[in-house]
Amino acid sequence: MRTRPAPGALVFGADYNPEQWPAETVEEDVALMREAGVNRVSLGIFAWSALEPYPGVYDDAWFGRVLDRLADADIGVNLATPTASPPPWLVRAHPEMQLEDAHGRRVPAGGRLSWCPSSDVFSAQAERIVTHVAETFGDHPAVRLWHVSNELGNENAQCFCQACARRFRSWLARRYGDVGTLNEAWGTAFWGHGLSSFDDVQSPRASRNPPDPALALDYRRFCSDALLGHYRHEVEILRRVTPAVPVTTNFMVAQAQDAVDYATWRDHVDLVANDHYTVAADSRRHVELALSADRTRGLARGEPWLLMEHSTSAVNWQARNRTKEPGEMLRDSLTHVARGADGAMFFQWRASLAGSEQFHSAMLPHAGTGTRVWREVVELGDVLRRLAPVQGTRVERAQVVLLWDVPSQWALEAARPPSVDVRYADVPAAAYTALFDRQVAVDVVPAADAAERAALDDRRVIVVPTTYLAHSGLAGRLEDAARRGAHVVVTALSGVVDDTARVIPGGYPGAFRGLLGAWSEEFLPLQEHETVDLDDGSVVRVWTEHVHVADGTEVVAAYASGPLSGLPAITRRALDEGTVTYVSCVLEQAALARLLQDVVARAGVLPVAAADAGIDLVRRSGQGRSFLFCLSHLEHAGKVDVHGRDLVSGRLLSGVTEIQAGGVLVVDEVPSSHQQLDGQLDGEDA
Ligand code: GAL
Repeated sequence: MRTRPAPGALVFGADYNPEQWPAETVEEDVALMREAGVNRVSLGIFAWSALEPYPGVYDDAWFGRVLDRLADADIGVNLATPTASPPPWLVRAHPEMQLEDAHGRRVPAGGRLSWCPSSDVFSAQAERIVTHVAETFGDHPAVRLWHVSNELGNENAQCFCQACARRFRSWLARRYGDVGTLNEAWGTAFWGHGLSSFDDVQSPRASRNPPDPALALDYRRFCSDALLGHYRHEVEILRRVTPAVPVTTNFMVAQAQDAVDYATWRDHVDLVANDHYTVAADSRRHVELALSADRTRGLARGEPWLLMEHSTSAVNWQARNRTKEPGEMLRDSLTHVARGADGAMFFQWRASLAGSEQFHSAMLPHAGTGTRVWREVVELGDVLRRLAPVQGTRVERAQVVLLWDVPSQWALEAARPPSVDVRYADVPAAAYTALFDRQVAVDVVPAADAAERAALDDRRVIVVPTTYLAHSGLAGRLEDAARRGAHVVVTALSGVVDDTARVIPGGYPGAFRGLLGAWSEEFLPLQEHETVDLDDGSVVRVWTEHVHVADGTEVVAAYASGPLSGLPAITRRALDEGTVTYVSCVLEQAALARLLQDVVARAGVLPVAAADAGIDLVRRSGQGRSFLFCLSHLEHAGKVDVHGRDLVSGRLLSGVTEIQAGGVLVVDEVPSSHQQLDGQLDGEDA
């Protein structure tokens, strides 16, 4: 069952934690929610100790009253299972359910998500409270969606306790069958790590040396599966008790996050939901935001998804938190909606007075309603109401696709690559930024999709950034796509190892040598701040390789300085209608942008619309209508060519239109010819 957030309206609201406030506050909350146009809250996320203050003693009445008030006010509820934070009495009774860190230290009480997903005690307790919540409140008329736990993996991505080690051994036995196969796959002959039985396997706890890469990679997979197992256990209960209520859990898709591999989770949610927080120190944080939203849509296979959390202004957990500028919250929200979110929700409704997030922004600030944040919240509610027709439409399939691969991220981290400056996420993010700046629409999909599904069909440009771990079938699919006319760009350190982190021998990148018509015999990482030049004027940092080309492969750029002078740095192989470009070095951003622009132009891909640089453009369409989102990141007025009615201002627009600095337009585009619009405009304006 795939369920959209709310037919006919975009979702707007926040995490709501009434347990932090006197009971009477609910009246004011509900009145203000209505004033702001809130139509959805996530309730009960951290309410376990309030719902069960003593072992087996439930206090449900207050929760039922809150649900009733919300239902009366027509505010729907994402009902949470409160398992993210078990009550202190439970942790005291069963300290063994707490996770252990890589040094074997048990995490003390306090915090949240400090439980181990392999703990039988925790699992039984979670089953009990989830069943209680589902049976007591699951059929309440306010409930629209289950919100399972909270950001599973955020604080408990990896546990190193003995229970996990035992389950890991069983997981390995299922995956590899016998210990001989495991020894072979992991290459345990190195340093004499040969295993006599699965019982010899230990989790990769902190040691004098880093763990074997294959062990570390499989442990990441196992931990992701263990958390998924916990999620699925909760879901089984919810589906049994309330089969009609769709289920989700809030993902954390962000450049700096790799807690779990959502590519293996997404088929277990009825609706993909994501939490995203901008990075204060990043002056171009809107680009990372857009990338997160595009990745989330890729995980949702292009279907609408829900922004479950973001912030109205500053968070409280970065080194130097940043208060959002006027208009930034609206732009941030619409950046998600433009990219397929059918709503925008926040952490949280009312700013907490106590607790470790007391200085985190909220929809209702400490200072109350006479504030800029509140006014902007009310304005956002109004804008989202006007954007109701966008709900359920889909972002148009992009001609450019960028692969994102969490297993490659894990494998590279596990590998001790030859340079500390090689960080997986930087590479797809750099490519994305170059395309974003050119206003080119990009779909970002898990690399596993590209190996198995039709993700590459009809794409004109395919970017394969540092896809270190070669998914089986990927090279063949890329080759087929190129023969059909796609222009494929592969960057350094792609296809170097197989699924078990073992180097594919015979010259790098082993999996893609044939595809590229090029191979390297040696890596030559650069020192910090060291750069070398290419003969096309590009500057290279971090990474170079000693590349050889096969007959027929063109050298696009060669080294003009350093030990590789005269040798190929960027190569291109023509394949029937398409090409495959290998960027064997890390290009500085300007050079990467030039290269990708050249490929995009060669492929005939155009920007989403004609507009000044610095205006983000995305189109959603469906049911015969299309909506062009234009979000200005300029500090001065800009121009965009649009035809239709701006749903934000209500104005009819035809042709080159001014968009104010930092402003937004969502144009309900005229389906037929612009001629006709001109007629309409004349008529309406007269
Ligand atoms: C999220 C979390 C929320 C809140 C928020 C603060 O990661 O789900 O509960 O902690 O961060 O930014």
